[in-house]
Amino acid sequence: MVERWAALARRLDEPGEQRPDPVLQFVLDRLEPTLTVLDVGAGVGRWTIPLAERARAVTAVEPVEGMRRALQDRLSSRQMTNVTIVGRPWLEADVPRHDVSVAAYSMYTSPDLPAFARKMEACSTRLCGMAMRIPAPGGVIGELSEAIHGDWHDSPNFIVGYNALLEAGLSPNVFVEPAAARYWTDATFEDAIARARRHLRLSGGQFDGLITKTLKRSLVKTPEGYRWPDWMRAALVWWEPGNA
Ligand SMILES: C[S@@+](CC[C@H](N)C(=O)[O-])C[C@H]1O[C@@H](n2cnc3c(N)ncnc32)[C@H](O)[C@@H]1O
Repeated sequence: MVERWAALARRLDEPGEQRPDPVLQFVLDRLEPTLTVLDVGAGVGRWTIPLAERARAVTAVEPVEGMRRALQDRLSSRQMTNVTIVGRPWLEADVPRHDVSVAAYSMYTSPDLPAFARKMEACSTRLCGMAMRIPAPGGVIGELSEAIHGDWHDSPNFIVGYNALLEAGLSPNVFVEPAAARYWTDATFEDAIARARRHLRLSGGQFDGLITKTLKRSLVKTPEGYRWPDWMRAALVWWEPGNA
């Protein structure tokens, strides 16, 4: 598993791999060199590093050890010293207040999204932002979910998350990534099956027959691999603490 995160980090550092990210850019445009940033669920630092290049200091909260190690390696190779890594799940992390807090695609497994958001708000003075995936209407994950779990549910996402926050009494703003021209692509068919299992939260291979049949019908073979009809598009749910 540790090697998996190291490989992910290596891939991220390959030339040309850092695609433009309008959602991250929205946050970067609001940073100043004097500000501090909290990156909740930092992973291997896809956001942490650009944030730390723009801000005075970043605290990266990441509960998975292999991810933390890969993030630390990436920081060390850049000789970056303004990032502190905290190895706890967000609701158990003890962190001081920062100016800005962000959580990029890291709230999906948290059973209490409003508590996750409220803690971000309590730990920041200027801006809170949560990046979430926008599901594609013709996506395969929704179709498989209907067949397997009984309802069309494309993993926790912006539609679910925004509504949960509204119901909890927050009324945040939304920045929607403009273009939707990128699609998930997996190098091998096995990788595509693994992705489906992950998104559908399946621990075993009991639905592999159905997944295989559906993906064979829906994925398009390209020179890069197997392209899904599910797009890669995101929204940033953001608010100013005290004004949501
Ligand atoms: C899909 S990855 C996103 C990583 C990174 N933010 C990015 O955009 O590349 C989700 C990350 O959130 C972390 N995570 C999951 N649950 C979390 C929690 N309760 N508190 C903090 N981090 C969490 C995972 O360990 C993982 O690194």
